[in-house]
Amino acid sequence: MTIVPVRRVRGELFVPGDKSISHRSIMLGALASGTTRVQGFLNGADCLSTIDCFARMGIQIDVNGDSVTVYGKGMRGLSQPAQALYTGNSGTTTRLLTGLLAAQRFDSVIDGDASIRKRPMAHVKTPLELMGARIEGDFCPVRITAAPLRGIAYSLPVASAQLKSAVLLAALYAEGPTLIHEPQISRDHTERMLSHMGASVAHDGYTITCEPVSRLTAADFKVCGDISSAAFFMVAAAIVPDSQVTLRDVGINPTRTGIIDVLKQMGADMKVENVRDLGGEPVADITVSSSPLKGIRIGGDMIPRLIDELPVLAVAAAFAEGVTQIEDAQQLRVKETDRIAAVTTELARANVDATATSDGMVITGGRQVRGAAFKTYHDHRMAMSMAVLALAAHGESSIENPQVVDISFPGFFEMLNQLTA
Ligand code: S3P
Repeated sequence: MTIVPVRRVRGELFVPGDKSISHRSIMLGALASGTTRVQGFLNGADCLSTIDCFARMGIQIDVNGDSVTVYGKGMRGLSQPAQALYTGNSGTTTRLLTGLLAAQRFDSVIDGDASIRKRPMAHVKTPLELMGARIEGDFCPVRITAAPLRGIAYSLPVASAQLKSAVLLAALYAEGPTLIHEPQISRDHTERMLSHMGASVAHDGYTITCEPVSRLTAADFKVCGDISSAAFFMVAAAIVPDSQVTLRDVGINPTRTGIIDVLKQMGADMKVENVRDLGGEPVADITVSSSPLKGIRIGGDMIPRLIDELPVLAVAAAFAEGVTQIEDAQQLRVKETDRIAAVTTELARANVDATATSDGMVITGGRQVRGAAFKTYHDHRMAMSMAVLALAAHGESSIENPQVVDISFPGFFEMLNQLTA
């Protein structure tokens, strides 16, 4: 796909539904007693992998555009899948399913694509094994043998919502309560949705206590727009001169809004308006207008609040004045690809001064950013980040394998065209 620089990015739009919430709506809907209706479901390949896995465990799921109906069968209603469950490219499906399946009364196997087979599972296995789970494999395919679980008190070694959620799903079936301590707060959609469905999940600072449940009550979910998808247009509007974009109904759960805080600190002109509640999650309309940006330091507690937005923030940094230092983000090394290596390599291709460090990167803005032939590493967020860079670069760019965006954002390029027309 060829992308030429644009004069401006203007308009308003609704981005597709939140990926994290969409996955969880299927999983928790399947475990609930009764019917769950989901509106605004993200029809990305990752969430469709989750649907496929639950269909293979006997759950009827009807998809009609972005409306999905899940016919829950209760906490013990899943049936043993005939084959290995295939999670495609989806880390969230893989990790959360591992916790859930560890607690079932049947054996199972989880496998995914080449990228999933390289992503670590040991950090998920460790707490589950302490609970009594029997899991073989530090990488996919992982084999799970049925075993009774007991509650534990566990300190997560990294702030990871996938890891936390895997333990929470297992904890629903354990004997006794489970206490999870997070080093930093990660996204809390699992906790919110479980509480909404009647589970006892309590937060106290960095500690979450979860009691086992015998029943979850089916609840309908309205999925907010994914702030991680909106982020691409926020940065596009910030770096392309004469731009203004309004993104409607975007989820602004405080565990996810690092992108807004950081862009504002960089000097972006952003307005967050019309804040309201949508099905237990706060949403708002976000307007971003172009303005000069300056480099900043991003690290510590901020990282889990914008982990998926770091590639596109690195693009913003390339157009900012001064140095942007990203630290404490070693988790980026084990995403869909090694995003520290991928981002710095692709930025260098665009003539940007970008250096990889063990836990992040250093980007010095100010040089002319040039269009180039960008690689995507089969990573949806790399493809979208480099497409955003291409809008504001000098000269033409190309994006290899652009259809990879369908993992989390089908229709991304159509929306981009709409804003640049
Ligand atoms: C997610 C958690 C994050 C994030 C991923 C979605 C989730 O992963 O990067 O895109 O839905 O729980 P980690 O938990 O590995 O940080």
